[in-house]
Amino acid sequence: MPDMPPLTLGSKTAHLPIVQGGMAVRISMAPLAAAVAEAGGVGLIAGSGLDPDELGREVRAAREATDGVVGVNIMVAVRVFKDLVHAAIEAGADVLVCGAGFSRDVFAWGAEAGVPIVPIVGSARVALLAERFGAAAVIVEGVEAGGHLGTDRPMLDLLPEIVEAVSIPVIGAGGVVTGADIKRTLDAGAAGVQIGSRFAATVESSAPLAFKELYVAATDDDIVLVKSPVGLPGRAIRNPFSRRLEAGDHPEIERCVSCLKKCGKDYCIIDRLIMAQTGDVEGGLVFAGTSAARIHDIPTVAELVARLEHEWREAEGEGAPA
Ligand SMILES: Cc1cc2nc3c(=O)[nH]c(=O)nc-3n(C[C@H](O)[C@H](O)[C@H](O)COP(=O)(O)O)c2cc1C
Repeated sequence: MPDMPPLTLGSKTAHLPIVQGGMAVRISMAPLAAAVAEAGGVGLIAGSGLDPDELGREVRAAREATDGVVGVNIMVAVRVFKDLVHAAIEAGADVLVCGAGFSRDVFAWGAEAGVPIVPIVGSARVALLAERFGAAAVIVEGVEAGGHLGTDRPMLDLLPEIVEAVSIPVIGAGGVVTGADIKRTLDAGAAGVQIGSRFAATVESSAPLAFKELYVAATDDDIVLVKSPVGLPGRAIRNPFSRRLEAGDHPEIERCVSCLKKCGKDYCIIDRLIMAQTGDVEGGLVFAGTSAARIHDIPTVAELVARLEHEWREAEGEGAPA
């Protein structure tokens, strides 16, 4: 039986071409990232919304739990971006993924520490720029993805032109739930996939049970776009909070610590993400990709990865010549 190809990010190689997407605030923490790394993928701790000490502790905890590839995802839009990057590097992160903006500086910090930098891109132009600055790979996130969106195009529509434009590995993100989805993405030229929502609804994810149950119950009609004060649309599950936003009723900001470099201040997104993560899935913002509608259970990471490998093999077999 064939195995999925490995994924190399600079000096680090994972056995499987599967990156677990960073999910803030406190959805992908050490337990999830370590379990994915241990299963052979790349596990990412989400740094956005944490302070540098907490991020350092999470990276060290994951490092102690596994010898697999553990990295950190940090949004460039966060004011303490530089401090979080340095905390992640000092704590031993294997790879840094940067989304929601573009930082030139991070490539120099990564090169100095020998840590591969992997930006999330939404166009061939930005992918080329990232390659020129020294990116080890790029992640192409399509409109299906959960969280903040940088494009209105589907991942499989965007991917080929980015694969064509750069010579570094390209990782497809958005709408990947099954092994057949992984095969489709690799067949389109990707070196790997990044999966968010499917991993948010696993046992090891730090989302509360009510959050995971919303994913399991969600249908296509329950997944909506909301306006984020970051200045990008965000994809989430429809709930009383998203309905409030739809109606133009923005909750007052109780306390602002200027956590983002630029913020529309229509509401506090960090507070609303923390509310959802701490169990208030009606008043909080429950980020989710369109793929949540195809998620029907809450497996362990080991069970899920075994399932993805099995489905990938089945899809490979179906495509093989008789
Ligand atoms: C709950 C949740 C939180 C997310 N938070 C972040 C984040 O902090 N930074 C980031 O770059 N992407 C974030 N994302 C996007 C994921 O890393 C990933 O790219 C995306 O979920 C892929 O699409 P999928 O959900 O269809 O698998 C988040 C996604 C979800 C579902």
